[in-house]
Amino acid sequence: ASDLVSKIEKKRQASIIGGGQKRIDSQHAKGKLTARERIDVLLDPETFREYDAFVEHTCVDFGMEKNKITGDGVVTGVGKINGRTVYIFSQDFTTFGGSLSKTFAKKICKIMDKAMLVGAPVIGLNDSGGARIQEGVDSLAGYAEIFQRNVLASGVVPQISLIMGPCAGGAVYSPALTDFVFMVKNTSYLFVTGPDVVKTVTNEDITQDELGGAKVHTTKSGVAHGAFENDIEALSMLRTLMSYLPQSNRDATPKTFTADPPSRADDALDTIVPPDSTKPYDMVSVIKRIVDDSGFFEIMPDFAKNIIVGFARIGGKSVGVVANQPLISSGVLDISSSVKAARFVRFCDAFNFPIVTFVDVPGFLPGSKQEHNGIIREGAKLLYAYAECTVPKITVITRKAYGGAYDVMSSKHLRGDINYAWPTAEIAVMGAKGAVEIIFRNSSDRSQAEAEYVDKFANPLPAAQRGFLDDIIIPSTTRSRIIEDLEVLESKRLKNPYKKHSNLPL
Ligand code: COA
Repeated sequence: ASDLVSKIEKKRQASIIGGGQKRIDSQHAKGKLTARERIDVLLDPETFREYDAFVEHTCVDFGMEKNKITGDGVVTGVGKINGRTVYIFSQDFTTFGGSLSKTFAKKICKIMDKAMLVGAPVIGLNDSGGARIQEGVDSLAGYAEIFQRNVLASGVVPQISLIMGPCAGGAVYSPALTDFVFMVKNTSYLFVTGPDVVKTVTNEDITQDELGGAKVHTTKSGVAHGAFENDIEALSMLRTLMSYLPQSNRDATPKTFTADPPSRADDALDTIVPPDSTKPYDMVSVIKRIVDDSGFFEIMPDFAKNIIVGFARIGGKSVGVVANQPLISSGVLDISSSVKAARFVRFCDAFNFPIVTFVDVPGFLPGSKQEHNGIIREGAKLLYAYAECTVPKITVITRKAYGGAYDVMSSKHLRGDINYAWPTAEIAVMGAKGAVEIIFRNSSDRSQAEAEYVDKFANPLPAAQRGFLDDIIIPSTTRSRIIEDLEVLESKRLKNPYKKHSNLPL
């Protein structure tokens, strides 16, 4: 019996070593942690329970029957982050390049199934050479089994992907189906086909980093939601993100103690909007002055910066924040910003986050580029997302709310629960100058008409008189008002009509 025990122990040790010290050293030389080190950094100490450490692949081709590494290239299991359960898989690049075999996929599927059963998030740490080439279609089948689970889990449990090395070919689509994708700068990349194939097919010379590095995906493609300097920073930021999320769609968002007083009035807010409505100001600063302890976890901070989305706590309650950013292109809505915010609003709705929206928007971006690329369809996504969502919606118009963009940005008409304006709000079909040029086209003296228009619309009263605003509030009281509203809205119940699923314009 002691033979057996020592055999088991040997196997367990083998699985801990993975591809061996040489490959571990080479992993470290690249500035990367190993699969197990990453789990240790991410989870609360001593909470990881590994499953399937003894699993080995079943491939008998290309001499693979003689080449087995216990664990087979992925470490899976369950653990805690800030005391709450998460399921995790961490791909081990030292073992067959972290490439995905049939059994590797089975290990991932097992923890995804468990996560669905108990209602807990799934975190994937990706570092893999892709499909295990020796296994052929078995490996492709493995990917699809994972994709299917990603889709079924979507909107049920939060799914988060951290790309910490290569992620190419079919491997990219599992992260793509998850709620958030984060990357590590310089050591991770994501692409469907690598530089060699690109060269063969299109004759384009491009490096891995230019094709699918962290910068490209966080600024250009919008595929990734954030990038971090190194493994440690990425994993610790992931812990922070998790603190905002509920365990599943069955739970409310977390509520934690805060020492930040609910009645705290930040007087700087009363003068933060410049009197000249063409002058910009920083909406991130507005958000930070209102939320608890200036804490704001921004999602996609480097993509479509004309809109801001992210998580914060207000009165201890975790909420989603969406805001136009007047610092960038006057906060105009365009294709990228609409899609960025739409996806975020839908995440919030799926996982019971109240949504707080700050509005300062001059309208949709004009131009053939936007029209030809489908701003009608893409802008509709944000409109759709706000109209569809049933979570508490609180809106604060800080300045401009013009045209169709007024409607889109969580207006009263899209079932906004509480709609406020600051005294600086201007709610109209368009800016005064443009408006007067159209309606007084033939008049020689437009300045009087312009003054009249400003008087009529460049203030929040007309909207408030119609009940489209619930109140006009002093900016410094915004925090306390939102906290009161969130409390009242906690018991909000709203259901959309039964349907198989909606048909969001894609
Ligand atoms: N299947 C099987 N083994 C793989 C693999 C795969 N898809 N990808 C990598 N490996 C193995 C390598 O054979 C190597 O094994 P060894 O340590 O026993 O020599 C080990 O993983 C490390 O790979 P290596 O190529 O030395 O690492 P690298 O850092 O130089 O390059 C990649 C990493 C991912 C760029 C490179 O391995 C690669 O191009 N892999 C194939 C990617 C691919 O086309 N996958 C299929 C499409 S989904």
